[in-house]
Amino acid sequence: MAEQPNKMEKLVSLCKRRGFIFPSSEIYGGLSSCWDYGPLGVDMKRNIKNAWWHTIVQSRDDVVGIDTSILMHPRVWEASGHLSGFSDPLVECKKCNLRFRADELKEQKCTVCGNTLSEPRQFNLMFKTFMGPVEDAAAIVYMRPETAQGIFVNFENVMTSTRKKLPLGIAQQGKSFRNEITTGNLIFRSREFEQMELEFFVRQGTDMEWFDYWVNARIEWYKKLGIKPENLRLRPHPKEDLAHYALCCTDVEYRFPWNWGELEGIANRGDFDLKQHSKFSGKSLSYFDGDAKETIVPYVIEPSAGVDRSMLAFLADAYDEEQDKDEVRVVLRLHPAIAPIKVAVLPLSKKETLVPLAQQIYSELRQTWATTYDDSQSIGRRYRRQDETGTPYCVTVDFQSLDDEAVTVRERDSMKQERVPIAELKATLADKLAL
Ligand code: GAP
Repeated sequence: MAEQPNKMEKLVSLCKRRGFIFPSSEIYGGLSSCWDYGPLGVDMKRNIKNAWWHTIVQSRDDVVGIDTSILMHPRVWEASGHLSGFSDPLVECKKCNLRFRADELKEQKCTVCGNTLSEPRQFNLMFKTFMGPVEDAAAIVYMRPETAQGIFVNFENVMTSTRKKLPLGIAQQGKSFRNEITTGNLIFRSREFEQMELEFFVRQGTDMEWFDYWVNARIEWYKKLGIKPENLRLRPHPKEDLAHYALCCTDVEYRFPWNWGELEGIANRGDFDLKQHSKFSGKSLSYFDGDAKETIVPYVIEPSAGVDRSMLAFLADAYDEEQDKDEVRVVLRLHPAIAPIKVAVLPLSKKETLVPLAQQIYSELRQTWATTYDDSQSIGRRYRRQDETGTPYCVTVDFQSLDDEAVTVRERDSMKQERVPIAELKATLADKLAL
């Protein structure tokens, strides 16, 4: 696909127009960098999370799931290092008071008014709130900035309750919150977002093998779900850029319309987290290896992905425009597993004779797949609408259907049409939509 100028603007407009993503609290002027997912967006996001859960948890014998609370004991964030170290350097324009991340500025001048900036100061990214009715320091709690810590503090509970052996992964999806200084590019960086994280516990000595395994598995996952390989790359972090807990880290990056950006980080966190939580809680977080007859503190490999960022990458990668006769066809070439709607049933006309058959097909198909029904405007327009939201197949019910008991199935990408007997429609679609 050739480079498309203004692709982000077009994508933002499509997301709003078709009900993928809306600005939060829009009728009040919006709330900076907070987003709402509309009827199509919520299904697409859910499909991404389900695809991840299926690959990471359901299809494996060595990973289990968990769902921990967003608010955690404040000591968790002391142990994890977030209270003292989870900060970005912030500078403020002395004239217009705009704030910037010092490490993202090329020049030490305000990028808006050109005036001088303050000295950098460290700004903690965790959101604070109060638990209980009294707003005093004793009741301060934090909105979790990552889901990972909920996993570490439950290590003992999970090992004991599942009676599993190492290597064992614990996976979690859920909201995280960061009071980011700079946000932007739609849902790429926001203050409230969702993560999909796996903490994979292994014996020290096998950690780098598992690290390589997960780096490879994670980039392959994006490819399998349709992201073009040329738009994906791996970026190993230089030693000096590593987070305080990481022995090594590699990012999966995507070529977003504005530049390459991180989709997911895969880190070897060593035994940092379990040891820290043991130290701060006074509870031993170790593992008895029955085969080696020794007690160890496992190392952990962490593939940590952003749901919203993945969604933006899937949308940007799928967005295409092509000349079709004298019109431009906008099409989202989404993988069927990710597409919010799988099938659209389109009666050729609203005439009474067609409606009962079309409605019957619609009600049958929607028991199995996310299906929509559209009978307004010309069939050409309706195909376009479905192309724009990434629906892989349209089923058209026409007057001939009443005689030959067959319908037309149209494929989104090639626009090829084939006649399929109604009796075989479900099996045909199942075959085409098989993942
Ligand atoms: N537990 C490790 C961890 O949280 P991270 O690199 O800070 O690592 C992991 O975050 C992923 O979460 C990122 O690769 C990104 O996809 C997503 N993410 C982080 N901050 C985000 C934000 N402000 N907005 C949207 N997604 C974000």
